[in-house]
Amino acid sequence: MIQLEHVWKTYPPNYRALRDINLEIDQGEFVYLVGASGAGKSTFLRLLFRAEEPSAGDIRVDGQSLAKLKSRGVAALRRKIGLVFQEFKLLANLTVVDNVALAAQVTGASQKESRSKAVNLLRELGLNDRHDAKPLALSGGEQQRVAIARALINDPILVLADEPTGNLDAEVADETMRLFAKIRAQGATIILATHDLGLVNRYGTRVISLRRGELADDLSRGESGSSAQ
Ligand SMILES: Nc1ncnc2c1ncn2[C@@H]1O[C@H](COP(=O)(O)OP(=O)(O)O)[C@@H](O)[C@H]1O
Ligand SMILES: [Mg+2]
Repeated sequence: MIQLEHVWKTYPPNYRALRDINLEIDQGEFVYLVGASGAGKSTFLRLLFRAEEPSAGDIRVDGQSLAKLKSRGVAALRRKIGLVFQEFKLLANLTVVDNVALAAQVTGASQKESRSKAVNLLRELGLNDRHDAKPLALSGGEQQRVAIARALINDPILVLADEPTGNLDAEVADETMRLFAKIRAQGATIILATHDLGLVNRYGTRVISLRRGELADDLSRGESGSSAQ
């Protein structure tokens, strides 16, 4: 699903945010990407959806080398990827349902189809009665669920979440983790970056650790939750 070969990322003038990263992630894995603040987690995720390009090395996502993509290819790549951020990034002047539906509309779906998909997703995520609210009227946990609905509306094969629980209290963070586990059960690959080791729990299948831009550890574990390596 994802392959990185000798991937480096240097920010000007000469800061090495990622150093010679080599790894593969299989379809259907739920990967925690951990490391202290500044370790390179967000950079890693940004490379995967081509928000940035590596300074050296090759990245493949879903069989495609990202270096070769033209702008249409980048758009197609991003349609396959759902993004979730710490700060939700919802549009404050749109209703909840419009925030979610818009993500389908921008890929060419009709307004009617987008809305009906959004309504179904919001129902699945337990936000049935909040369709017409504005995001800022919701709790943090509800806002993150809206953001997750938006990330899922185009049926992504890959979900990238960057500190998705950073603004949530522990209980809501755990609920959010369960939600990611459910999304994975429906077939998506999940990569969830967090600096909070307390979040790394039984839902994941693998923990990749970055330390100052280097791959420091890579531990897979069985579905039973026991350590496999
Ligand atoms: N656009 C940028 N320009 C320069 N340096 C950057 C940029 N983005 C990130 N960095 C630096 O790269 C390092 C890794 O950042 P980041 O990937 O955001 O780490 P993390 O998400 O693990 O906290 C940090 O030292 C950060 O300051
Ligand atoms: Mg980060």
